[in-house]
Amino acid sequence: MPAVTQIVRLTVNGDLREVGVPMHFTLLEALRYGLGLTGSKQGCDKGDCGACTVILDGRPTLSCITPVFEAEGHAIVTVEGLADVEGPHPLQDAFDLHGAAQCGFCTPGILCSAAVLLEKTTSPSRTEIKEALSGNLCRCTGYSKIYDAVASAGQRLQVEAQLGESGR
Ligand code: FES
Ligand code: FES
Repeated sequence: MPAVTQIVRLTVNGDLREVGVPMHFTLLEALRYGLGLTGSKQGCDKGDCGACTVILDGRPTLSCITPVFEAEGHAIVTVEGLADVEGPHPLQDAFDLHGAAQCGFCTPGILCSAAVLLEKTTSPSRTEIKEALSGNLCRCTGYSKIYDAVASAGQRLQVEAQLGESGR
């Protein structure tokens, strides 16, 4: 018997999207298999690796353990929503410059966790960066380049903010 589907309304990257999903779907499954937003990765699928991290109402959230119906009415940002018309998010540029992604499987989740951190402070300490990314596992990089990239993106955001304040 086919699974019973139901329409959910999700606000993703600023757009209100409707999608029919089986009742048991997680937010990750709705994003990937309902909306085609495959940037959020399906790793462990049980809340351990952080590959599925999205931003829900400004907080890093493991979408693989979030029932999709609990995400209705909340603002969801996925890695696809980090860049804007001006170009890549400073974090994305910094990951590129610092070689902070190898296979890249962990990268979307790390970018989302780091983006939330940089919303709070553009000058995080190394300890704060490590804490913010403590739920995101990476098998490839050894983390140092990731931490460097996050710090670098924060510095760029500080400079951009200063230039903005000076009216340039
Ligand atoms: S896929 Fe969600 S924590 Fe691993
Ligand atoms: S770059 Fe491969 S898991 Fe992080």
